[in-house]
Amino acid sequence: MNPPQNHDLSGKTCLITGSSRGIGYETAVSLARMGAHMIIVSHNLERSKAAHQRIINEFGEQAAHYYVANLSVQDQIHQLADGILRDYDRLDVLVNNVGGWYRNFKQSADGIEMTLAVNHLSYFLLTGRLLPLLEKSTPARIINVSSDAHRQVSGIRFDDLQFQQRYRAFAVYAHSKLANIMFTYELDRRLNGSGITVNTLHPGFVKSELYRHFGIATPIVNLAAGVFGKNAEQGAETSIYLASSPDVADISGKYFADRKPQESSPASYDEAEAKRLWAVSEELTGFIYPI
Ligand SMILES: NC(=O)c1ccc[n+]([C@@H]2O[C@H](COP(=O)([O-])OP(=O)(O)OC[C@H]3O[C@@H](n4cnc5c(N)ncnc54)[C@H](OP(=O)(O)O)[C@@H]3O)[C@@H](O)[C@H]2O)c1
Repeated sequence: MNPPQNHDLSGKTCLITGSSRGIGYETAVSLARMGAHMIIVSHNLERSKAAHQRIINEFGEQAAHYYVANLSVQDQIHQLADGILRDYDRLDVLVNNVGGWYRNFKQSADGIEMTLAVNHLSYFLLTGRLLPLLEKSTPARIINVSSDAHRQVSGIRFDDLQFQQRYRAFAVYAHSKLANIMFTYELDRRLNGSGITVNTLHPGFVKSELYRHFGIATPIVNLAAGVFGKNAEQGAETSIYLASSPDVADISGKYFADRKPQESSPASYDEAEAKRLWAVSEELTGFIYPI
């Protein structure tokens, strides 16, 4: 295990999506320990409250605040963003961490395939809505939690973006994680010179609740993660590093694993495809970026 990271984040505000448990929660605890004010977001009221309570018990009343939002629903992303823009005058770090794995095809309330809605479009829409606040808080950082699973697909499936023709959960998940990386690289090109950095990462194979929808494979994957994988605290290390370390203050548009920049898959570097994904994401969210 790497040595604990410790930087002074007092006065900084960080928002992490999917931070009621797992990698997101452990990231929030570490950043709160460094003095940051944490904004916890998840869709389960009880778990959000419990995560918030544990953080303020340890670091004090001012250490955290929580919002409840189902990030598969675009109206709720807008309400969350409206709340943040109303309640805060700065946002130094945004960590798009929320992620889901859906065994069978299902659609969000907006009629969008659930994996695409949660794993990619929530990153796209929330980031776009919070960009003015990040711009006011420069130098600011955006971190998109992806996965090495992105290597399992050879490109974005524009002919069947929502997997309505053939749904295979692993490919759908991998596809959403490729979208995270292509979104990061395209956002970096558009943010150039703005004082906001954006990076993406693979946390490793981590024992968490992500695998609970694997059906009969769930106990096997959980056992493998327990034996060969990282715990959530270790899985949070690269997110914490990218959110807090001065070493990466000026680094942007990179894919990291184990706190080091890595090459992502060849498909992830395709600029024309990234622009096409951006245009489709604007269409699916109805949100036009100002950049
Ligand atoms: N675990 C791994 O091995 C692994 C490997 C590579 C990449 N990753 C990535 O790491 C990230 C975190 O994964 P994890 O393993 O920590 O997952 P996890 O334990 O399942 O935690 C997921 C978090 O997201 C929240 N969430 C799920 N659906 C939501 C929704 N519709 N709206 C709002 N919040 C929602 C959950 O909140 P509730 O409490 O409200 O349900 C929870 O806080 C994901 O992006 C995942 O793809 C994980």
